[in-house]
Amino acid sequence: MSVSPQITFVPLGAPLAETAALMVTDGATLPSTAERIDRQVHGALRRAATAAEFTGKMRATIEVLGTTGAEARRFILAGAGKTDDAKDLDWYRLGGVIYAAITSRATAAASIVVEAADGISAEAVATIAAGAKLRAYSFRKYLTREHAEANGNGAATVRTPPRLTVHCPDPEAAERAFTRLDAVANGVYLARDLVNEPANALGPVEFAERLAALDVPGLDIEVMGMKELREHKMGALLAVGQGSVRESRVVVMQWNGAKRARNKAPVCFVGKGVCFDTGGISMKPAAGMEDMKGDMGGAACVAGLMLGLAKRRASVNAVGLVGLVENMPSGSATRPGDIVTSMSGQTVEILNTDAEGRLVLADVLWLAQERYKPRFIIDLATLTGAIMVALGKENAGLFANNDKLAKELEEAGLATGEKVWRMPLGPGYDKLIDSKNADMKNIGGRFGGAITAAQFLQRFLKDKSTPWAHLDIAATAFDSSKNEINQSWGSGWGVRLLDELVASHYEKS
Ligand code: BES
Ligand code: MN
Ligand code: ZN
Repeated sequence: MSVSPQITFVPLGAPLAETAALMVTDGATLPSTAERIDRQVHGALRRAATAAEFTGKMRATIEVLGTTGAEARRFILAGAGKTDDAKDLDWYRLGGVIYAAITSRATAAASIVVEAADGISAEAVATIAAGAKLRAYSFRKYLTREHAEANGNGAATVRTPPRLTVHCPDPEAAERAFTRLDAVANGVYLARDLVNEPANALGPVEFAERLAALDVPGLDIEVMGMKELREHKMGALLAVGQGSVRESRVVVMQWNGAKRARNKAPVCFVGKGVCFDTGGISMKPAAGMEDMKGDMGGAACVAGLMLGLAKRRASVNAVGLVGLVENMPSGSATRPGDIVTSMSGQTVEILNTDAEGRLVLADVLWLAQERYKPRFIIDLATLTGAIMVALGKENAGLFANNDKLAKELEEAGLATGEKVWRMPLGPGYDKLIDSKNADMKNIGGRFGGAITAAQFLQRFLKDKSTPWAHLDIAATAFDSSKNEINQSWGSGWGVRLLDELVASHYEKS
């Protein structure tokens, strides 16, 4: 896994590291640590704040350098606005902004002083730390030299994560709150790592091996090989993988954390794991094809989510299933016009081999329902270019057969910043995938491409009343807009969203 900065929590009085970020609330009333520094430097901190028109607005920062007599070499004043108004996401983003300000120059260690005149919760402190951790992620595995980068003022900065010490009123409580957020952040790191990895290093077999190697007490990992996939008659999934020299895999991850009896039915997550999508015989154009190493973003999210749930020992029974294949053109590849039989028994005419994700999901969705009686099923897939055209990068597409689940996802989206926008389903769209030659075809024509893809998936619900949601994450899983807490190409999108969904609705009852 990519290296995370080391983060520790200490009391407010503890000595400061060479770089110190000081949180300042709205109105620029300096909290006690900042007051102490200001006295050491004969009022220079306050003067700097005034000169820079710094008033402590949420996420505003200024830098104060080299003040003689001060206990640190470099200070960052970081605005926290009106702390009463701040939500979790604000604290995450503030942590990200502070981390960026700290690392805009080379530093081996930094203190983040989190205090406010009218108090600050341990949860807020922990969330700032988690925001810093998410911001700190970078994928450097294949860089053999340290690349110095200019910091904007011409000075060179080598970006090795500094050690972070968080100074706060109640370090024990902050540490406890952080343990939980850190588990989820590690899930995000895993998802990002998997998406960023090139496809020569991460094919279906290697992806499955990485999951099998996850060593978290109580997280059960089962890898299904070619023999089992054939025994289960997963003809749709196997058809996608058959053009590749690399074998296909399905991995089932299980976490049984529910304490109460009526909670036993598991929540189910299914991920598209196309480790590389050339399009197959219906091949994609060359420009931008390299991005298709990220076509396993749904599977990466499911893996990261399961890791997070297990690490934080969530009180829920959860199953994550991923379908891992490589979509290649070759003498053994599926041809347009081929008809395959899916695990459900339904036949599919493959008119475009580039509409492969739905074929993979069809069989994994069926497996999930045959094995478990899920409370709900949510699938995630970088499924269509059409969803990017419809929604841009701001929202993932949400399709659901259940208003309650849809609403819960929308709310979790707003809370985490991983937003979803509901799209329609209906019989008029469904008939667009009827085929003369088979039960259905795998493309629906020119219009509503994201919707016909979702209709295809809905045909693989065994019991139509099982709450189901499909998230089309083509625009958000990779190359999404950078923000305060994500600077990585592979975003890890969806891990925090689904963790929030589980935490707020499926752990209590
Ligand atoms: N993996 C792609 C969708 C995609 C495209 C994700 C760009 C992220 C960025 C998917 O397998 C695909 O090729 N979909 C086709 C479907 C079409 C052939 C009906 C598409 O969207 O063009
Ligand atoms: Mn494709
Ligand atoms: Zn694809």
